[in-house]
Amino acid sequence: MPHHRMKRQQTTRHQITQQLLSWYDENKRDLPWRGTDDPYLVWVSEIILQQTRVSQGWDYYVRFIRRFPNVASLANANEEEVLKLWQGLGYYSRARNMHAAAKDIVSRFNGKFPTSHTDILSLKGIGEYTAAAISSIAFNEPHVAVDGNVLRVIARLFEVEEPVQSTKGKRIVKELTKELLPEERPGAFNQAIMDLGSLICIPRQPRCGDCPLANSCMVYATGRTEELPIRIKKKKTRRRYFTYLHIRQNGNTYIRRRTDNDIWRNLYEFPLIETDKPIEIEELLQNDEYNQLFRETTLLAIDGPFTYKHQLTHQQIHANFYRLTMEKGAVHAFMDQYKQIVEEEIERYPISRLMHKYIETNSNE
Ligand code: ADE
Repeated sequence: MPHHRMKRQQTTRHQITQQLLSWYDENKRDLPWRGTDDPYLVWVSEIILQQTRVSQGWDYYVRFIRRFPNVASLANANEEEVLKLWQGLGYYSRARNMHAAAKDIVSRFNGKFPTSHTDILSLKGIGEYTAAAISSIAFNEPHVAVDGNVLRVIARLFEVEEPVQSTKGKRIVKELTKELLPEERPGAFNQAIMDLGSLICIPRQPRCGDCPLANSCMVYATGRTEELPIRIKKKKTRRRYFTYLHIRQNGNTYIRRRTDNDIWRNLYEFPLIETDKPIEIEELLQNDEYNQLFRETTLLAIDGPFTYKHQLTHQQIHANFYRLTMEKGAVHAFMDQYKQIVEEEIERYPISRLMHKYIETNSNE
């Protein structure tokens, strides 16, 4: 580390922390999970906020804790209900892991949320960040919770040139953050950096004029605010082509639960044919999987395609939905693989946002 950085840090470290905490006390956001030290509530909020913006996560959090106000109620729920409450938030493994961890807390810790950092870290779905957030916010333990906001704020404050997503970059940021961490208010400190990162030290055009740390900020001094942090190039997105078959037969339809280790595991969907290229209806009618499905059935009509493009973090789903009207009482080759349900009751099942979009816009014409 360059000498000047060490020196400056030693002289103003404590001051930076105090400025940050005073700013937080005056400006902190009024969020529904603030002001609690119940580790369960902190846990739920941190899991929701891991990959979700505060504005989007807010209502989900409120609904989730209303239905599952404590570990026991979550542990006793069935997974489908948990997924249903999560529907639309994405990254469903977060919900599955929380559910599994709640059961684990019941069996290993008598239903009481563990207090030690090591025990917390041993729970499914809880990594270093979440464990640090819970330990500091609920138990006042001195752990730094380094999320995307912290990486950005600290990289700018100390002019960290290393890409922040790299192991080395993260380690540097973590060490610098530890130096600022106050023993007496670690939870407030962690949340203060998060708020500073969301309100002031934003990715583009940071509001340095309102920043309590501008005077200590190395990139503010050099005018390099937007150049840091250095980001590594994103992974290429994978394109996938989904053809969904919305079967209508006498008020019923067919769905299946996704069980593979893939997106949307344990969510329900219509019969799906995935191809490595887009296909038109002519090709669909020639497709083996398609013909297997309808081997013994008489189709009365096909409508569609109803086309949707659905963006996930590293995948772009190009989906075509077809609505197939089938003869009443026909024999289905696919009975054993699919679940026959009353069409309107699909909303009771956890489904992907893509399925939901289709159902809302096109299924009832
Ligand atoms: N993002 C993740 N955790 C948060 C918290 N506790 N407060 C505000 N934003 C957050």
